[in-house]
Amino acid sequence: MRIDAISIFPEYLAPLELSLIGKARQEGLLDLRVHDLRTFTTDRHRTVDDTPYGGGAGMVMKPEPWAQALESVLDAVGPSNGHPPADNAAADGSSPVQSNRPPTLIVPSPAGEVFDQRMAHELASREHLVFACGRYEGIDDRLLDWASGQFDLRPVSLGDYVLNGGEVAVLAIVEAVGRLLPGVVGNPDSLVEESHADGLLEYPVYTKPSNWRGRDVPEALLSGNHAGIARYRREQQLIRTAARRPDLIARLDPDALTGVDVDALLQLGFEVQSGRVVRASGD
Ligand code: ADE
Repeated sequence: MRIDAISIFPEYLAPLELSLIGKARQEGLLDLRVHDLRTFTTDRHRTVDDTPYGGGAGMVMKPEPWAQALESVLDAVGPSNGHPPADNAAADGSSPVQSNRPPTLIVPSPAGEVFDQRMAHELASREHLVFACGRYEGIDDRLLDWASGQFDLRPVSLGDYVLNGGEVAVLAIVEAVGRLLPGVVGNPDSLVEESHADGLLEYPVYTKPSNWRGRDVPEALLSGNHAGIARYRREQQLIRTAARRPDLIARLDPDALTGVDVDALLQLGFEVQSGRVVRASGD
């Protein structure tokens, strides 16, 4: 996968050199490039923002530096319309990304679609992600209109709160997507059993010693009985999810639940009604 991230604070993205993502880059599993938006300005002050038409607080990012930056990314990878360029080598020596679909342009914004594990999987299937990190009050909206002609445009929010800019969202999204790429996480089984993999939160985990500060590891985990351990863990997932994230319980597909799951949910105050999991009416 190729990722380009454009920001006025490229140093903010330095953590992407660390840990699993850094290793994936070194191993060539992920071709990630960070660009400074100011490189694409033409004035002496390297201006990227201006006052908003219509008035109001704050500044708005000018569209032209963004268009220049995004065009340079497109030039570097070659056309994505299924017609490979005559010269296969990209301008910077990198291998061009060629596919039938345009690169996905992710614009982090509190006004975007909320990022979740389903979206992480979807983005992990793309060949080329481009991140445009807005700052201030955001980017002139005409840039997004222009970009939607060249990219698959995705305004994405980390959640219902406001950050100072898109860089933290890039760190989160690249980590969540990068770890889904083949070869990035050493043991792929850990992707199967983690929170959100099956719409539920992960079960609690324990390690040695079996008694710590007067607290025992649950008996079921010490039994060596694999079926019993699996049953215990599944029940814990349901208990934890019902307590912390009842909204996720309501989104479960009843067809994916076993009879044991349905019984456990009933104990937790949920029942299946008209093909949906709902709070039990209690009568
Ligand atoms: N930029 C500012 N706030 C944001 C949020 N909640 N998610 C993504 N990008 C943002």
